[in-house]
Amino acid sequence: MTKQTPETIDWSTLGFNYIDTGMSFRAKFRNGKWEPGKLSKDNTVRMSEASPVLHYGQACFEGLKAYRTKEGDIQLFRPDQNAKRMKKSAEQLLMEAYPEDQFIAAIHQVVKANADWVPPYGTGASLYIRPFLYGEGDIIGVQPAKKYTFSVFVTPVGPYFKDGLLPQAFLVSEYDRAAPRGTGAVKVGGNYASSYLAGKEAKDQGFADAIFLDPATHTKIEEIGSSNFFGITKDKVFVTPASPSILPSITKYSLLWIAEKRLGLKTVEKEVYLDEIDQFVEAGAMGTAAVITPISSITYQGKTHLFSAEKETGPITQSLYEELVGIQFGDIEAPEGWIQIIQ
Ligand code: PLP
Ligand code: COI
Repeated sequence: MTKQTPETIDWSTLGFNYIDTGMSFRAKFRNGKWEPGKLSKDNTVRMSEASPVLHYGQACFEGLKAYRTKEGDIQLFRPDQNAKRMKKSAEQLLMEAYPEDQFIAAIHQVVKANADWVPPYGTGASLYIRPFLYGEGDIIGVQPAKKYTFSVFVTPVGPYFKDGLLPQAFLVSEYDRAAPRGTGAVKVGGNYASSYLAGKEAKDQGFADAIFLDPATHTKIEEIGSSNFFGITKDKVFVTPASPSILPSITKYSLLWIAEKRLGLKTVEKEVYLDEIDQFVEAGAMGTAAVITPISSITYQGKTHLFSAEKETGPITQSLYEELVGIQFGDIEAPEGWIQIIQ
């Protein structure tokens, strides 16, 4: 296959796939401190075969995007929130967190170096940014590494779910993604490996993805393997699950704010029982990759609940989407501190 370049790529048909853009950021933690990071053209990594990341999953990551505005600027959406969350993830796995200010500086540096790969305004595509941190070195016992690499690569992406903003059907999984007092609330590799089987079973049956229930009682909606869940009641309340074992989604907290302050909706984070989903007229998945993906139906143990906004995106989901995406692409004024322009 010929290598894609910013000149040959068809931005409007991009899915969520990796393309090597040629420039990544790498920093190494050695001898008890972070060495200065630098850009690298090498998209491969090399490490000891005994590295804790390879055996025990000592790894965490983040996901955020850079957006091209109508004026041609490139902007980031709330990177400080990703920096904070990655610190929490690192701490939970006893890893050396990469300092938050350096995290943000690294994002700016790598996006700037790959500026040609930020999709043009109006194509709907954006530049996905993947910071990650892993433990390496010669360790065989179950214990944390003494050496770490923090790295960032970028890749241009379109929609995560193949039908984009069309409502999609989801399947409630019989598996758990994370344990009640486990690592569900941090963005660590193991959570994702353990969601593969559920995701495959859902996709094999024609569903967009799996929805996980709470691992203690299996009665409440937790989240999707790649995104948080929301529902809209007929009284226009934006409801999203509260749970200690889901990822605190930056998109969710942004939409809670948008729903309340810009759309005048009531919002609530609370336990969402699966047998009460008929209170919702609209539902969706929300996350950096998923953006807002409307949910047409939820199937569990052979029974399907259809939302009334089944064939086309419901009006509130549509308004939330327009407001969020408008802010991200610079068409709508952002709340203070949400946007950083790449200089
Ligand atoms: N839940 C999971 C499991 C995720 O992987 C993601 C993606 O990062 C989200 C939720 C959404 O989080 P965010 O909005 O911060 O991207
Ligand atoms: C993101 O939305 O950034 C994610 O990390 C989801 C994903 C697992 C692709």
